[in-house]
Amino acid sequence: MSNLAPIIDARDLSRVYPLGDSAVVGLNRVSLTIAPGEMVVLKGNSGSGKSTLLSLLAGLDDPTEGRLHVAGYDLRNLSETRKNTYRRTVVGMIFQSFNLLPTMSVMENVCLPALLAGKPYPETIERAGELLDWLDMGARRGHRPAQLSGGEMQRTAIARALINDPALILADEPTGNLDSRNGGLVIDLLRELNRRWQRTVVIATHSNLADPFATLQICLKDGAITDSTCDR
Ligand SMILES: Nc1ncnc2c1ncn2[C@@H]1O[C@H](COP(=O)(O)OP(=O)(O)OP(=O)(O)O)[C@@H](O)[C@H]1O
Ligand SMILES: [Mg+2]
Repeated sequence: MSNLAPIIDARDLSRVYPLGDSAVVGLNRVSLTIAPGEMVVLKGNSGSGKSTLLSLLAGLDDPTEGRLHVAGYDLRNLSETRKNTYRRTVVGMIFQSFNLLPTMSVMENVCLPALLAGKPYPETIERAGELLDWLDMGARRGHRPAQLSGGEMQRTAIARALINDPALILADEPTGNLDSRNGGLVIDLLRELNRRWQRTVVIATHSNLADPFATLQICLKDGAITDSTCDR
């Protein structure tokens, strides 16, 4: 897409999960380069390695083999401190099940990653307010997650993912728990982040909602990238 340095550069990336005397292959020698500004849709059957790949990209899990550079960070050679900085500032992650903290309000959930990253409180509150307004969540900022609809929970999770201004947004089945209207809304937001704000977006999904906006589609099969399309 462009001649900019890739934001994601993976070489022969593998993740093997030890399981008793045997092992399960989550990811098998995946190599890929992704330029900044791409909107990537990651497809593949259940168990094909989508979540495994996203966890590695997010720095939430470590590869067993291979090389992984993201946004200038060599993820295989990072101190825990630098890895924390990477997780908090480079990546914004969105999950199928939202993963909001149930005892905290919408506002507190959104602010938390910024406060953990050491950002000043007033600036954080202001930015969170802007994001929540943009996501049409302004009137819900004092609510707890249990007092929200699924679509509202996911919009809260999107605000939380954006609070530290990440270059890379990773979404694992973000529409899986939503009806088609709310699912479409979430994809529209991800698309806007990609188009208007030039964020690199990677969406792992079984749904076809994001297909029209994908600049790149990657299909996984048994932990490896396959050339054939995933559409059955
Ligand atoms: N923590 C783990 N321990 C052992 N095996 C695991 C672990 N996590 C994932 N796996 C295995 O790795 C393979 C890839 O799993 P992964 O969750 O990445 O698939 P997926 O493509 O995200 O599937 P889905 O579409 O169902 O979400 C599967 O065979 C799975 O059973
Ligand atoms: Mg998965």
